[in-house]
Amino acid sequence: MNELDSIVDSARSAFAAALTPAELENAKAQFTGKTGRITELMKGMAALSVDEKKTRGAAINLAKQAIEAALNARRQALADAELESQLQAESLDVTLPGRMREPGGLHPVSLTLERIELIFASMGFEVADGPEIESDWHSFTSLNNPPNHPARSMQDTFYVDIQGDDGIAYNLRPHTSPMQVRYAHVHVKKHAETLKAGGAMPEIRVICPGRTYRVDSDATHSPMFHQCEGLWLGENISFKDLKVVFTDFCRTFFESDDLALRFRPSFFPFTEPSAEIDIQFQSGPLAGRWLEVAGSGQVHPTVVRNMGLDPEKYIGFAFGMGPDRLTMLRYGVNDLRLFFDGDIRFLRQFR
Ligand code: PHE
Repeated sequence: MNELDSIVDSARSAFAAALTPAELENAKAQFTGKTGRITELMKGMAALSVDEKKTRGAAINLAKQAIEAALNARRQALADAELESQLQAESLDVTLPGRMREPGGLHPVSLTLERIELIFASMGFEVADGPEIESDWHSFTSLNNPPNHPARSMQDTFYVDIQGDDGIAYNLRPHTSPMQVRYAHVHVKKHAETLKAGGAMPEIRVICPGRTYRVDSDATHSPMFHQCEGLWLGENISFKDLKVVFTDFCRTFFESDDLALRFRPSFFPFTEPSAEIDIQFQSGPLAGRWLEVAGSGQVHPTVVRNMGLDPEKYIGFAFGMGPDRLTMLRYGVNDLRLFFDGDIRFLRQFR
């Protein structure tokens, strides 16, 4: 093999060994660069005769062309490989399975509220919604709980730093009981004509579920919690009706016919007489214990008057229960705070 052929050969193998464009350019410099082997051979021709220059020059040129052809082929090969790997990296496999988004579910307390609404709707109760920021008059005064009365501290709450033009103070409602008076006002207005004509007002039969707030926080109290108010007011609604309705509700809610109920005498400014309602399971882990689930009583005449109705004519009962408590009992949860921590691992169990 002559010298030129061996230079072309070593150029080919040097190019083949280059794995990146930069390596390839370095390899090229060794052959056709300023001090490359081909360049050096060209410089060496200066001393040759004209004839020798002709043959020698043609041979060197052939070798140079062969090297440049090998160089271009390798450049192209490297560029193709680069493009190929880029395409690989960016490739999209449309046959891969999609990323599933888990279906959501209702919060356990929402499930309870839904259940409460269904059961009371089946007994002919309307469902009404009311404001969580409530006036002092609705939260307390209208409910026979005058300013500075010690019973207000039973429901100490959060006061809101806004005052109406009338100087009314607002609070985050400490219970859903203000809805008794609010709803009655709407009802009375709706039937104003009938009432004015001396006709009989249709009964008020309503439940008002919603969020309530108190300065309270431990395993069984959260500063935000839920209540569901109930009100049945008419010309002849008695404590007996409260017992029937609430007993029926509890047995349906817990799907247990032998659930026992106890109406324990208590005090609320807005009811007289008043009772706490306790329930007792006959089987299961809580069997035998009395568990408080609601406050209740016959609507106080002062409250009926504040509704714009004649307490000599209209009478009925109200109750306020705790849907959070009912949820804990139904599912066997012992820490109320779990409901409001927003931990998906806890919540997904109720889906
Ligand atoms: N509002 C009372 C409470 O929050 C419960 C209640 C409602 C009691 C209606 C009697 C009648 O404790």
